[in-house]
Amino acid sequence: MNTKTHWEHIYETKAPNQVSWYQEHAKVSLQYIQNTGIQKTDHIIDVGGGASILVDELIADGFQHISILDVSGAALQLAHQRLGARAAEVNWIEADITQADLPHQAYDVWHDRAVFHFLTQPADRQRYVDIVRHAVRPGGHVIVATFAPDGPDHCSGLEVVRYSSESLHSEFGGDFDLVDSTRETHQTPFGTEQKFIYCYCRRY
Ligand SMILES: C[S@@+](CC[C@H](N)C(=O)[O-])C[C@H]1O[C@@H](n2cnc3c(N)ncnc32)[C@H](O)[C@@H]1O
Repeated sequence: MNTKTHWEHIYETKAPNQVSWYQEHAKVSLQYIQNTGIQKTDHIIDVGGGASILVDELIADGFQHISILDVSGAALQLAHQRLGARAAEVNWIEADITQADLPHQAYDVWHDRAVFHFLTQPADRQRYVDIVRHAVRPGGHVIVATFAPDGPDHCSGLEVVRYSSESLHSEFGGDFDLVDSTRETHQTPFGTEQKFIYCYCRRY
């Protein structure tokens, strides 16, 4: 099964609050984005945003230029429906991030929670990093959350790569300065815990 088919099936068969990555609030992500100090008119992209509540919280906070990218159209549709009329304020992009054609230096903030860790092939990770370098403006903010070394080794039936802040930063290389990292213990809707690491980098 290819990536798109897998994720479309997940979102067509599971309620948004019945997937392990569900969060009632995207607290750590929102805090990192707010702490960047960007303007409300600056451009944010949430990569693999799925049906996450983060977009609602960014709109509520006044951000005006938000793009949500996901390989699953069904996931984007769920977020779109939840937002109602406010969905028109968002730029929805249905694409695989390893093949996405994003505009040059268009984004001030790149956010990804629980997508990069699905890229088990080095060539896919290289393409992802090349796309970040292309799409984020110099000086822009890159926030990527993955499973930590003591996190799960699978998610949604797929193998993942687990990272420390150092190993995640080293995937991005010298064009990115590691500014901060935070561990989070995520409580799944099923009463289990997942250890995450959030890395915050600046793009040179
Ligand atoms: C574990 S979920 C996380 C969703 C969201 N970021 C959150 O924190 O709630 C992973 C998301 O990444 C999307 N995804 C997986 N592989 C992708 C890829 N190669 N390109 C774009 N989106 C992808 C899935 O459709 C899914 O919505």
